[in-house]
Order: sequence, then structure tokens, then C-alpha cells
Amino acid sequence: MKDHIMKLSMMKMLLAGVMAMFIAVPVVNANSGGVHLEPANVNVHDKTSLLRGAKYFANYCQGCHSLKFSRYNRVAADTGASDDQIKAIIFTRDEDDKPTKTGALMENAIPAKDAAKWFGTAPPDLSLEGRSRGPDWIYNYLKSFHLDDSRPFGVNNLVFKSVGMPNILAGLQGDQAPVYRYDIMHHGHAEKSFASKDAAEKALEEELTFDVVKLGLMGKNIVGHYKTKKEALDFVASKTSYKVVLNKENIASFATKAKADNYVKANPVDGGKYKVVAKSAYSIVESHEISKVIDHLELVKPGKQSAPEFDRTVHDLTNYLTYISEPAQLHRTMYGIFTLLFLFIFFVFAYMLKKEYWKDVH
Ligand code: HEC
Repeated sequence: MKDHIMKLSMMKMLLAGVMAMFIAVPVVNANSGGVHLEPANVNVHDKTSLLRGAKYFANYCQGCHSLKFSRYNRVAADTGASDDQIKAIIFTRDEDDKPTKTGALMENAIPAKDAAKWFGTAPPDLSLEGRSRGPDWIYNYLKSFHLDDSRPFGVNNLVFKSVGMPNILAGLQGDQAPVYRYDIMHHGHAEKSFASKDAAEKALEEELTFDVVKLGLMGKNIVGHYKTKKEALDFVASKTSYKVVLNKENIASFATKAKADNYVKANPVDGGKYKVVAKSAYSIVESHEISKVIDHLELVKPGKQSAPEFDRTVHDLTNYLTYISEPAQLHRTMYGIFTLLFLFIFFVFAYMLKKEYWKDVH
């Protein structure tokens, strides 16, 4: 009986293990800066898209970024590109000053050391970018460059704050400028949003209170709301006492500063100095504040491509980087189907063999 239970629980554990293998682990999109990411909807089986992506990458990106875990001829084989098509995207040269061979790794053109000097950071190799950031992040990153005078290249990025990369695709996309919105924040949440600063300031005036906070053992407690800062300050003053300290020792306490000062004046000492120290467990915080945030981006100067055309360009680039980060994914499903097919056929033979062996036993 015990044996039977043991077997049963072992079966359960095995089953749980097998089930755990089938639960997909979701890809976490780290570092999107809280920006909502549009889905990239990549399809790595779309070979024309991959080939267009490869061309765009060679033309616009590979000057700076390598894909050094991949070879040109692998891309050719996977996308169905002809020899000429793949040679057309190779612009780097080898030591003999001949065009790099199709069997070579996909290096970039600028030395990392110079690049780090120019951009603050060396452009990273993007071989695994599709896996580390995920397609949605890449897609949104390439679409979210916007004008920002405070940055060295005059651009910033919504999903990658203070990015070191210039807006390489500006010629195609055009220039985008941020459209701001003013949020009224209360305890870290946006309560209301306004398109103009004036409207936000007006609304803030209505909402704003000066809150007196008491710091206690159990944390902070709001003990009063006041419409003006003066009222709040008066309240705090009424609750503040003043200590007179002489040579690091408390001498006396007073309810007001004037009284403490009077005491000091009335009792001069030799060889020591008085200090009047305010003793208060209160502080004042403003209940609401305005936070200026980017609401969306607006095209202020058109590029060579229309918005849908540019979306497709970025989609192709994202598709290509997703494929490059795991070229085997093109074949992986096929391997699975072959494996299942093999197991099925093998089962038929195994079954027939079993029948043959056991024929004489019964
Ligand atoms: C002029 C050089 C240059 C070119 C050309 C360039 N980049 Fe970049 N890129 C950079 C630099 C530098 C960084 C690093 C930015 C940083 O860390 O602040 C970067 C970062 C990136 C990242 C983010 C890497 C990360 O941290 O996860 C991606 C994705 C990217 N580039 C894609 C592209 C694509 C796609 C193209 C072509 C359309 C391109 N880049 C063209 C210089 C370049």
C-alpha cells in the first residue's frame, strides 16, 4: 500500500515537472520608461520583410552596429536572397581591401574606441537585441526619437531617456516634436491632466492645500490641511518649542522664540555660548503639484516616407533584428513537426515489434 502511494506521488511530481516545461515564460520588456509600447507584430517567416530589413540595416545601422554572431551567407540562405542581392548589402572591406566575403561575420565599420568618444557610449552589437529587449521595445524605440535641444545630437527618445544614438532615420521619418501635457499629481498619482500650463495652474490653485505632517514613531501623519502657506506656518509655529542650549546641555524650554531669546539676553554667561534650537515634529508639504510630461509626439517636419511607409521600414528592421537574435526560430517549428512525425512512425514499428515478441507468450 505504502509503495503504491509513493508511486502515485512520484507520478504527480513528474506530471508537475512536465507541465511546468510547457508553461511559457513571458518576455519582460525591461526599461520602457513607463511608456506604453505599440505591438511590433513581427513575422520572421516573411522573407521579403527580412530582406528589406537586412538592406535597411546595412544602409542605416551597420556603420555603427555590428551583428557579429551572424554571417552574411546565413542571412542569404534564410531569406532566400541571391548572391548578388547579399553582395549588394556588404560595404565593409577585409584586410586586402577587397569587399568582405559573404561567409564573414557581420562587423560594423567604426572602431569601438572612436565611437565611444563620439557618442558617449560605443554602439552595442545588436546580435541579441531581439531577445534582450524584445521586438516591441525595438519597434517603439526606433519610432520615438524626438527633438530635444538639451541633448548633444538635438534628439531624445521616449523609451530610452538621454539616448546616445543620433536619430539615424530622421531623413525617412522626418522630425517629431513632443507635445506636452500637465498632470496634477497627488500622492504620486496623476489626478487630472491639462493641455495648457495655465489651465493646470488654475486647477492646482483650487486643489492645493498646505498639509502639516507630523513625524511620529509610526511614520508620517497629516494633522492639518491649510489653504495658505502662512496658516500652515502659523500652526507649526504654535506647536514648536525652543530649547536654550548651553555647552551642549539643555537649559530651558520656551513656547516661542522671543521668550527663548529674552532668556538668553537676561542671563549672560562667561566662557560659553548659548544656542536657541527649534524643536518641532512638524513639516509642511504641498498636497498637489504639477508635473510636465510628454503626452505624444507630433510630426513637425515630414521625411521622405509617409507615416505608414515609415512604420513598415521600422517593422522590417525590427523583424530582421528579431530573426538575427535567433535564426534557428525559422526552422524550430519544422524540427518539432519532423520529430513528432518520426515518433509516430517509430511507434507503429515498435508496436508491431512488441506484438511479434509477445505472440508466443500468450
Ligand atoms: C552613428 C552611429 C549609430 C548608427 C548609424 C545607429 N546607431 Fe543605434 N546606437 C548608437 C549608439 C551610440 C547607441 C548606444 C546608445 C546609448 O547607450 O545611449 C545605440 C543604441 C541602439 C539600440 C539600443 C541598444 C540597447 O541599449 O539596447 C538599438 C536597438 C539601436 N541602436 C538600433 C539601431 C538601428 C536599428 C539603427 C539603424 C536604423 C541604428 N541603431 C543606427 C549609435 C548608432
